[in-house]
Amino acid sequence: MKVAFFDAKPYDKPSFEKYGKEANVEFVFYEAKLSIETAELAKGCDVVCVFVNDDVNAAVIDKLYSLGVKLIALRSAGYNNVDVKHAFGKIHVVHVPAYSPYAVAEHAVALLLTLVRHIHKAYIRTRDFNFSLSGLTGFDLHGKTVGVIGTGKIGRIFIDICRGFGMNILAYDRFPSQDSDIKYVGLDELQEKSDIISLHCPLMQDTYHLINKESIDKMKKGVIIVNTSRGALIDTEALLDGIKTRKIGGACLDVYEEEANIFFNDFSEHIIDDDTLARLISMPNVIVTSHQAFLTEEALNNTAETTINNILSYFEKDGLCDNELCYRCGNIERCKRDRKERCF
Ligand code: NAI
Repeated sequence: MKVAFFDAKPYDKPSFEKYGKEANVEFVFYEAKLSIETAELAKGCDVVCVFVNDDVNAAVIDKLYSLGVKLIALRSAGYNNVDVKHAFGKIHVVHVPAYSPYAVAEHAVALLLTLVRHIHKAYIRTRDFNFSLSGLTGFDLHGKTVGVIGTGKIGRIFIDICRGFGMNILAYDRFPSQDSDIKYVGLDELQEKSDIISLHCPLMQDTYHLINKESIDKMKKGVIIVNTSRGALIDTEALLDGIKTRKIGGACLDVYEEEANIFFNDFSEHIIDDDTLARLISMPNVIVTSHQAFLTEEALNNTAETTINNILSYFEKDGLCDNELCYRCGNIERCKRDRKERCF
């Protein structure tokens, strides 16, 4: 079994090589992202393994199909970068639904604490032997209201951590959990009452620019926005306007809607072209990390193990894999997956 591994970083290789060797799966690592220009690199491979900023659009899928690639193995939970509908009938798609929801929830909390206690400024000050406290006044999280949008695996862990801080929780989910003690409210109420809003829902058509000018208008003055989910959940220009007008008190961003050609790369010796990102980073009350919420030892090992198990189960006799992305073909009554058969 040969797998073309796109957008490979040094931290990916040890875990994939280790688990790959044990399972007799050979990985060919490419630093390039998967795109129509690079798809040819998958020639001779059975599987492509991709991450969040690989662009697996319809043309790329057709090219992979023509090369004989049978499986697209996402090593991420989110799959908004894959045209799953177009892949239906051609190439199967699997993902890693959870590699460490703790990693992402804890990073969201780390960003939030850093921002509200000005740790990012204090760190730089004390390195410069400046021990002044002026301008470092923060606020207690205890007693504040946090609005959590999306109460899946990550959102729930984030809620549990926030409860530990003594915060009040309001939640919104398109599909609220029936068996939990989470207090669900409408999106408007969440936006109006929250001191902090944290996003933990997927990026889909109906969540694109979920945070926009109108929603920001409804929010409390001084609200803090945390996004460790997907960049395009937020209209960045509207966010920037909200920060400039002081409506938004701060933003913690691990993701950015135009991150694809920027994040995961070192531009420290370059002048960055993206004025919006440059402006955001220049704000004292904005913290940007480059999509690193997933980056823990535990998550990397779990990702490699699950991806390899996904690949192995695809090539097994019946080929059914729990982590296959189901393109909802609409054929509910005769759903083959429900009958434990492959869709195509
Ligand atoms: P999950 O699938 O367990 O939970 C997502 C929740 O969002 C579900 O409860 C679902 O009902 C809800 N939801 C769906 N549509 C919604 C809508 N329109 N409005 C409100 N809620 C909606 O997913 P999980 O594992 O909790 O991950 C959440 C997101 O975190 C992923 O979609 C991914 O984009 C992001 N993520 C980011 C990482 C990073 O490194 N920054 C790493 C892993 C995931």
